[in-house]
Amino acid sequence: MAQTSRIELKSPREIDLLRKAGQISAEILLALKEKVVSGMTTKDLDIIAEKMMRGRGAVPSFLNYRGYPASVCTSINDEVVHAIPGKRRLKEGDLLSLDIGMFVDDYCGDTATSFIVGGKATPEQERLMQAGRESLQASIDAALLGNRLGDVSHAMQSVVEKAGFHVVREYGGHGIGRAMHEEPHVACYGAPQTGIRLVEGMVLALEVMANAGTAAIVHNSDGWTVLTADGSLSVHYEKMVAITSHGTEILTPH
Ligand code: MF3
Ligand code: CO
Ligand code: CO
Repeated sequence: MAQTSRIELKSPREIDLLRKAGQISAEILLALKEKVVSGMTTKDLDIIAEKMMRGRGAVPSFLNYRGYPASVCTSINDEVVHAIPGKRRLKEGDLLSLDIGMFVDDYCGDTATSFIVGGKATPEQERLMQAGRESLQASIDAALLGNRLGDVSHAMQSVVEKAGFHVVREYGGHGIGRAMHEEPHVACYGAPQTGIRLVEGMVLALEVMANAGTAAIVHNSDGWTVLTADGSLSVHYEKMVAITSHGTEILTPH
């Protein structure tokens, strides 16, 4: 299969390196979340994130990626993904999606989460976040040796749609290794028992993007920010997993 041959399977040694990159990425994501307070700008958060990364011997992977000008993505409310940090101030009740990525000893970590600034969610925000978290977990549970990629995508889609929300079609997860984005693309929607088979040595960054309104998205004029077309809320959760002979391991525990 042509598609399979482009997938770089990782040796146990490489999985060790990705585990280290993933672990540091997860720790920094949690530490960064702790720093979020209303009144700060998203640029403040970016500066803190870059310091945290460099302090751990990591190099930001988003910075200069296809010209991206920051070390993190800070997507608020109706922003789905890839919003560039800037002068905008966070306020209580904002739904913030934080996505961070870095190289550690030449291997990539990439992980994201969504939460409410100040911690007090409305019932709708809470339901959307819960659907996103459960969707990602369902996709991880389906990422079993011998299952197929469609099983993973289908699990993700099912949880989101059962909750009455919608997955984004145009973006998804991906293989990850020495490059942030490797084959295969992992869509947030799919049919069971379709797609390539999961084999030992695959490392995937699974990502769910769920919108409260419709699945439709638009891009803004900066060329990066992805927004819901209808202005409804959106969440983004991402974790890296390794498919190994002794099971599926989460490389970014948080
Ligand atoms: N981290 C994103 C992903 O999960 C990619 C961000 S690319 C950037 O795949 F350039 F926007 F940072
Ligand atoms: Co990411
Ligand atoms: Co990713």
